[in-house]
Amino acid sequence: MTKNYKGTIAILTGGGDVPGLNPAIRAATIRANKEGYRVLGLRNGWEGIMKIDRSKPIEKQNYCQILSENNVKKIVRSGGTFLHTSRTKPSKVAKGKVPEELREKYSADSNDLTDEILKNLEYLGVEFLIPIGGDDTLSYGLRLHDEGVRCIGIPKTMDNDVPGTDYCIGFSTCVTRTIEYTHQLRTCAGSHERIMVIEVMGRYAGYTALVPAMAGASDRCVIPEFKFDIERLTELLVKDRKDNESNYSVVLVSEGAMFKGSEMTFANQTPDDYGHKKLGGIGDMVSFEILSRSSKYNKGVPINTINQRMSYMTRSGQPDAIDSIVPMAFGNLAIDLILGGESGRMVCLKDGRYDHVPFELITQYDKKIDISRFYDSDRYRPHYLNCLGMPLYIMTGD
Ligand code: F6P
Repeated sequence: MTKNYKGTIAILTGGGDVPGLNPAIRAATIRANKEGYRVLGLRNGWEGIMKIDRSKPIEKQNYCQILSENNVKKIVRSGGTFLHTSRTKPSKVAKGKVPEELREKYSADSNDLTDEILKNLEYLGVEFLIPIGGDDTLSYGLRLHDEGVRCIGIPKTMDNDVPGTDYCIGFSTCVTRTIEYTHQLRTCAGSHERIMVIEVMGRYAGYTALVPAMAGASDRCVIPEFKFDIERLTELLVKDRKDNESNYSVVLVSEGAMFKGSEMTFANQTPDDYGHKKLGGIGDMVSFEILSRSSKYNKGVPINTINQRMSYMTRSGQPDAIDSIVPMAFGNLAIDLILGGESGRMVCLKDGRYDHVPFELITQYDKKIDISRFYDSDRYRPHYLNCLGMPLYIMTGD
């Protein structure tokens, strides 16, 4: 049977959902179709390809669908991912998560299902794969690239910590929401003259706290890259409150921030497939500690605190302008690279320009804030002096 398309490109999204994934799916699909390629949407991240049923045609699959302009043109209006997602790592599948029909063959406590993934991709006729995700999702893309699958990665994570790019899809909306919701919460802090502690997600990097703080969302921020002194933080926040004619102050606390002499605070101890335990709870502890220490800096009178976890709110809603434009460009660039015969590359933004880097970069180092340049570790504030010639977000390069 002759094909009426030049080749097949598959797209999937993995890891936490963020606004901006749908614009990337839409752009890549429309462009690829225009260039004469068939596009498949693989559902539920890497979990989906693991569950392809090789006895059924594509039209009958639960984890794969044909994408076209018609079914993607409206998806940009909402956040999340139209293809759904998972945190599955096919090279390390726990016994209980192996698809039922494969359980006899893969019965160890931890199983590498890469052979099945390769067979499934071949069965679907996938010639090029575009995984969209953070360093976890993309690191398995690198594994497939090493196995001979032609892969182009697109970086996504509200944490903005994928090495090799200044920008990851979802970061801008996260910053936008953090600024917006922090300002909204000011009434609750101000009316009661409190110190407000807001915990933000972001895992092991502090960009999600530092960049909103730079934009004036809070008086102070504490980030994973620098262990803070709670006495100093309390002193600063009491002073900020006093200096504010409305008599309140605000601190943004990264979920990965640590008290001096302590380690990260986890919401539970169960690691995901990539070995990450869920973070959360540091904001509650900071709030409690500030309340109990505040009287020392406030003439013996304790100051009430409130604390709020931003949590998933900063990953919610529709994409902002940057998370509508950048993913569109990333999607197109991924197709350009495929058309140019490239493989094993990740699209990126470098100093405000679209570019691409080798996939291997993802696993070579952890991307974190350069605190010697961008964080005032005495005043617990962003540090920036000369913006001339700096990239858009000033401190997100590596
Ligand atoms: O990596 C993105 C992220 O939102 C982190 O900031 C956060 O720690 C984590 O995902 C939350 O994980 P989940 O979506 O599985 O609850």
